[in-house]
Amino acid sequence: MPLQGVMRLGYVHARVTDLTDAKSHYGNTLGLYPTYEETGKIYYKGWDEWDHHSVVLEEGGVGLIKLGFKVSDPADIDSIEAKAQAFGCVTERMSAGETREVSDGVRIVAPSTHVIEVYHGMTAIGTEVGTHNPDVFPRHLIGVGAPRIDHALIVAEDVNTMDRFFHEVLGFYATERVVTSLDENADYIATWMTAGNSVHDIAVLNGPNGKLHHFAFRLGDWNDILKAGQLFAMDDVSVDVGPTQHGITRGETIYFFDPAGNRNEVFAGGYTAYPDRPTVSWTPDALGKGIFYIQRELNDRFTTVMT
Ligand SMILES: [Fe+2]
Repeated sequence: MPLQGVMRLGYVHARVTDLTDAKSHYGNTLGLYPTYEETGKIYYKGWDEWDHHSVVLEEGGVGLIKLGFKVSDPADIDSIEAKAQAFGCVTERMSAGETREVSDGVRIVAPSTHVIEVYHGMTAIGTEVGTHNPDVFPRHLIGVGAPRIDHALIVAEDVNTMDRFFHEVLGFYATERVVTSLDENADYIATWMTAGNSVHDIAVLNGPNGKLHHFAFRLGDWNDILKAGQLFAMDDVSVDVGPTQHGITRGETIYFFDPAGNRNEVFAGGYTAYPDRPTVSWTPDALGKGIFYIQRELNDRFTTVMT
């Protein structure tokens, strides 16, 4: 039985102030593979991603343009479009190629005003190790050599509605939430949600609509996180927090900024999620420990800097 509906976060399309600086960061430090470049725009993929791209960077400002989620079957597009409309969202059909190398699909404006593209196909270009007797990683990775994109954390005024939107329209379920209290009708301060078995594919934090908190790349383990930190020191990358561990998701992490000021994360660990796993609730008294398990306190930047 194949996965149905959304399989994963497929791409993050973000703005950067200077494409040359961005190429140094995403290409040379993070080691993403450039797959296409046009005036003012570049497409990247991680070494373990077979689809054409997972990151699109566009020169001119800062912040998120859109997120793409890939579904397993073209028929999913119709059902997600109908659910989005029933939820009250503005939707429009997108044609094949409208987003480079991406199939037809549906574009949805989420209640938070974020633009979400749901698509079923992207030109597959494969990986350097291939699929026949593959080596375990490509020999000549650059910098961090990030294998793949993992998740994004976006910001919304009404987190309860966004939790319901991702559940009812896109079929996600919540693995963890920060709630104002354990009361059944409590407000959500943040929610971590997955479409499959990863600990989260998307998270939503309370704040101004339409903003990006960060997007994250999946690394193998703690050692890879530490090595990424060393490379950030070599390349003078602005580090926000870490290396540390999250209480929420149990993930191992460093937060850092791209040259435009968009926050990135390298992320490893976490647990395997299942839809019947009870949702974890965190209350504000333990928020420091939830976000940064070892230091147990938030820095001001974490809650105020969004792009
Ligand atoms: Fe994250």
